[in-house]
Amino acid sequence: MRRIREIKRSLRGELTVPGDKSIGHRAVIFGSLASGESRIFNLSEGEDNQRTVQAFRDLGVKIRKEGETLCIDGKGWEGLSGPRKVIDCGNSGTTMRLLSGVLAGRPFISALDGDASLRQRPMQRVIDPLSRMGAEIAARNGNGLAPLEIRGGNLRGIHYISPIASAQVKSAVLLAALQAAGTTVVEEPQRSRNHTEIMAKAFGAKIAVEGRAVSVAGCQRLSARDVHVPGDLSSAAFFLVAAAGIAGSDLFVRDVGVNPSRSGIIEILRRMGAAVEFFNLREEGGEAVADLHVIGRRLRGLEIGPEMVAQTIDEYPAVCVAAALAEGVTTICGAKELRYKESDRIATMTRELRKLGVNVEEREDGMKIEGRGRLQGAQLLSYGDHRVAMALAVAGLSADGGVEIDDDGCVGISFASFFSLLEGICGA
Ligand code: S3P
Repeated sequence: MRRIREIKRSLRGELTVPGDKSIGHRAVIFGSLASGESRIFNLSEGEDNQRTVQAFRDLGVKIRKEGETLCIDGKGWEGLSGPRKVIDCGNSGTTMRLLSGVLAGRPFISALDGDASLRQRPMQRVIDPLSRMGAEIAARNGNGLAPLEIRGGNLRGIHYISPIASAQVKSAVLLAALQAAGTTVVEEPQRSRNHTEIMAKAFGAKIAVEGRAVSVAGCQRLSARDVHVPGDLSSAAFFLVAAAGIAGSDLFVRDVGVNPSRSGIIEILRRMGAAVEFFNLREEGGEAVADLHVIGRRLRGLEIGPEMVAQTIDEYPAVCVAAALAEGVTTICGAKELRYKESDRIATMTRELRKLGVNVEEREDGMKIEGRGRLQGAQLLSYGDHRVAMALAVAGLSADGGVEIDDDGCVGISFASFFSLLEGICGA
């Protein structure tokens, strides 16, 4: 249980957040598949990234820590060997889906499983394209749910038109495609985050992007390199919202990844009236990185349409809190994918915002939230969802008498130091 005290003044200070979870997964994956030693700097200690590290250890890759640096001794695709046990992906959808793409091309049998939340999340979306490429994948609980058993090898390239904008689906297909005979094209309805494309190129793969289509030739080898993982915008988002929503706040978050395919939260906060500025914008390993400065102002509600979904997908719990603190109504639509995250985030955020006294209409693909500035104190549930827990903690700062959150341990999935950093900027 975690108690969050109401704060009666603005937030001030400066902080850095752990390495980007999405980029971290890919750094470990590509480093493990490349030939030679790759060093990964600033990999998050969060449970999700560590699941991917352990998965590749289970697949026979030598990975060691040298101080803060992760050193991966890659031996190419053939360096992977059949695992002796079921690979436990924990809570991490990215680990399970991207690994499925890797294992679809390997000539052995492997099994992937996860926790109760991951066992409820849709895997058919990767099973379909990977099966078309020639992998045999069985969902042991039926209904396209984990555990998965994968018999890989002998893949052929396909032209896949994905029904959903999902970086995990796209990435699973691309990782299989790199091992397949012939060329693969993946098209998606909206461009999802492109970290896999950027990382594949950095490790020497040839990959072409044209509009919403990515094409990749098969049988490609990867060469080792060093990767510096930027700070995670999805973690920074909770602090951006906290500062944006409390007038007079003034906060710097340094060294954050601001890849435009991920930065919807910044556009949304600006449209709500917050001042968010980039400083020292630079490129590291193909990824845009900046220092972010945010000044809190009275926020205004807004309409957030389907065009924002792909670039804001993980930030909706934080956006819901910004909406609750704003003046006027916010509507979110076209965001049904939120129902398939670590929890059903439309249902969980609706329920918890109502406990804070906010009028919320739950819709199949979104929500209508009536902002009310000050919130009511309440006892809240995180549903074991790290981003729900962190969003509710931010809400608690503006709730009369603060809030209590039942299970706060789940923040360790992506951001174990969240509460101590939050305390830091509240007390600074
Ligand atoms: C991720 C893609 C997104 C996102 C998830 C991480 C990734 O999922 O929600 O947290 O690293 O590729 P979808 O691909 O399901 O949209």
